[in-house]
Amino acid sequence: MGQIIDTEGRVCEQTKWHSRQKHAFLEEYLNIWSEQVGKDGKSNPPTLDIFDLFASFGFCYCPEEKKTWKGSALLAAECLKKYQNGKLLFLNTYHPDEKELQAQKKSLENGLSNIHLPGRVKTVIESLPIEKAVEAAISHVNLNYPSLWILDPYQPEHLPWDIVERICKLEGSYQIGNRKITRKPELFICLMTGRLQRLTGIEKEKETVGIAMGLEETIWKAKLENYRDSDDNTRRALISMYAEKIANFYKKPPIILEVPSTDGNIVYTVFLCTDHDAGHYVMKLHKLTKYQEWRKIEWEKSAETISAKKKIQRKAEKSGQKQLFFE
Ligand SMILES: C[S@@+](CC[C@H](N)C(=O)[O-])C[C@H]1O[C@@H](n2cnc3c(N)ncnc32)[C@H](O)[C@@H]1O
Repeated sequence: MGQIIDTEGRVCEQTKWHSRQKHAFLEEYLNIWSEQVGKDGKSNPPTLDIFDLFASFGFCYCPEEKKTWKGSALLAAECLKKYQNGKLLFLNTYHPDEKELQAQKKSLENGLSNIHLPGRVKTVIESLPIEKAVEAAISHVNLNYPSLWILDPYQPEHLPWDIVERICKLEGSYQIGNRKITRKPELFICLMTGRLQRLTGIEKEKETVGIAMGLEETIWKAKLENYRDSDDNTRRALISMYAEKIANFYKKPPIILEVPSTDGNIVYTVFLCTDHDAGHYVMKLHKLTKYQEWRKIEWEKSAETISAKKKIQRKAEKSGQKQLFFE
């Protein structure tokens, strides 16, 4: 959504309040690393590399709520700082407009310098379009050790399925006793299902849907029809198709989180993919519950207030009154 200055003068990504949910969920996931895998006393836990390919400004700011919070890149940095064997932070912050790109990069660097990462964490910052960014990131990865990839674009078309597949296909291994275990990167993907849903109904956008889903038009259309026949809606159909594509590469189905906006409509869907038993079950059994509690207490109340304000605003606008709420 572009840049905005917050109440403390920081240049941030202008963000809707619903995005706070995505970051809270990501934070719960990253906490598995910093609070559980790397708990004090555990000797020599594995190294961890984090790749955030849509890193943006670092901080997010919601003007309606007047709140600032850490975006994916700074959350990743905090995690690698806390986790005793955090090793690499690879951030890609890109914008097609050079001025915007420089603004994003500068704010990201400022945000990072305030985190004071320890010397063991190497930081790489790139500013490349996603096709090049993924190759640059791959050149840094050691597949025999854990890596986490964050893919959080504005639009589904900014993340073609080919890019996701390139990462899903990466594979390394590690040894437990005599057993050789396959290691795959862990993936956090934000798919803009709300927009994708709309695009399925627009003739000239059909190709975009195919690129984001990695499916030919005849195939996704036929699947959409099948789901419709079984009383499922377009969004659910798209989510199932995407999850099926990911499941071809991972042994465990992705953990799926649908993120509503303040009006209750689902805006996007987060897919969390990991083959790792502990990560998968801790997330499913404990962290999702913790996240849901957070959501009820901290998000829903303000979301209700915002949507009530919006309703009054719409009413006022219809009757020609000047609006006071979103100054
Ligand atoms: C939703 S924002 C990312 C927010 C960030 N993950 C956070 O939590 O703060 C999407 C980012 O993708 C960038 N972007 C747009 N087109 C891109 C492209 N083709 N390749 C890579 N990044 C792109 C935008 O400039 C923006 O910084």
